Amino acid sequence: MTFWKGKRILVTGGAGFIGSHLVKKLLDLESEVYVADNFSRGKRKNLEPFIDRLHLYTVDLTKLENCLSVTKGIDYVFHLAASVGGILYIVKENVDGLVPSVLMNTHMLEAARTNDVERFLFTSSACVYSEKKSKLNIFREKDANPANPLTTYGWAKIIGEIACKAYYLDYRIKSSVVRIFSAYGENENLDPRWSHVIPSLLRKAILYPKEQFTIFGNGQQQRAFLYVQDCVEGLILSMEKITDAEPINLGSEEVIAISELAKKIINISDKHIQVRYNLSGPQGTHRYCADTTKMKKILKWSPETSLDDGLKRTYEWARRELIVE
Ligand SMILES: NC(=O)c1ccc[n+]([C@@H]2O[C@H](COP(=O)([O-])OP(=O)(O)OC[C@H]3O[C@@H](n4cnc5c(N)ncnc54)[C@H](O)[C@@H]3O)[C@@H](O)[C@H]2O)c1
Repeated sequence: MTFWKGKRILVTGGAGFIGSHLVKKLLDLESEVYVADNFSRGKRKNLEPFIDRLHLYTVDLTKLENCLSVTKGIDYVFHLAASVGGILYIVKENVDGLVPSVLMNTHMLEAARTNDVERFLFTSSACVYSEKKSKLNIFREKDANPANPLTTYGWAKIIGEIACKAYYLDYRIKSSVVRIFSAYGENENLDPRWSHVIPSLLRKAILYPKEQFTIFGNGQQQRAFLYVQDCVEGLILSMEKITDAEPINLGSEEVIAISELAKKIINISDKHIQVRYNLSGPQGTHRYCADTTKMKKILKWSPETSLDDGLKRTYEWARRELIVE
């Protein structure tokens, strides 16, 4: 039996954006896949192409009894379920960014211990870091200490990371903690109230090309975007290679200013769209990108999809989603 074939694997949040791609990949690896999701943000549609090949639990994982029942007989857990949203959500929703996630993370680890789960992967986030004053905001894993994240969402991730380490130290649950930096791609939420910068610009380019793109800030804030299939590859390798709950960054090395990103999307859409910069709204941290030294060393891997390719694929998907032909 290989690492994956025939293993009983639970993906919490498996109906969501990253989760649905991970589920597909695990089915390709011939694992027996279980999904637990309350469909608060996840969609049945994301699982539809392979739904008859998996076991689906519709449950609220903030309740311990549900975490206990979905982890029975499971070998590995990918714990992705979290209360997440776009930047407006992250800045405003203090309690919702914190409490449901802390409950889920704590209960899932306790359930994993009770049911002798062998391996546990926790999806942490770039939001555990806080902006440094220097020009270089290329975050190394150790930069999260001492912790001072901007949001309660970031604090929930920090507490989740600590919980993984504690369960590893006290109960030897093999654990991987992966700090994902800005994933994008097919199945990401296109709802304007929730969406991140890429889906939000794609939606505008497809549905409202006559309107301007409004970008929060001066457009110079820089990010590195990770295509979702690369993100899944990184999660798979992390589960295989990391067991000690020491955090690892998972991010692209292709850094781009948001103004340049907007230009790329306008080019792909082949439309004439003006860009306006709104300096009064939330801007997010000036530059967020991962130091990927540890990722490359431990996983012996780097993301493979260029931003141009990933954006083209995501644009085509979003067009099919938004335009009923
Ligand atoms: N997308 C990114 O760029 C990114 C970056 C950093 C970290 N992450 C982390 O990766 C994970 C997956 O993110 P995503 O972008 O796919 O988000 P997503 O919102 O698409 O997926 C989260 C899933 O969790 C489910 N969920 C939420 N509350 C639940 C509950 N109480 N019980 C059961 N299920 C519940 C939602 O329905 C959803 O399907 C999250 O932990 C997120 O914090 C994502």
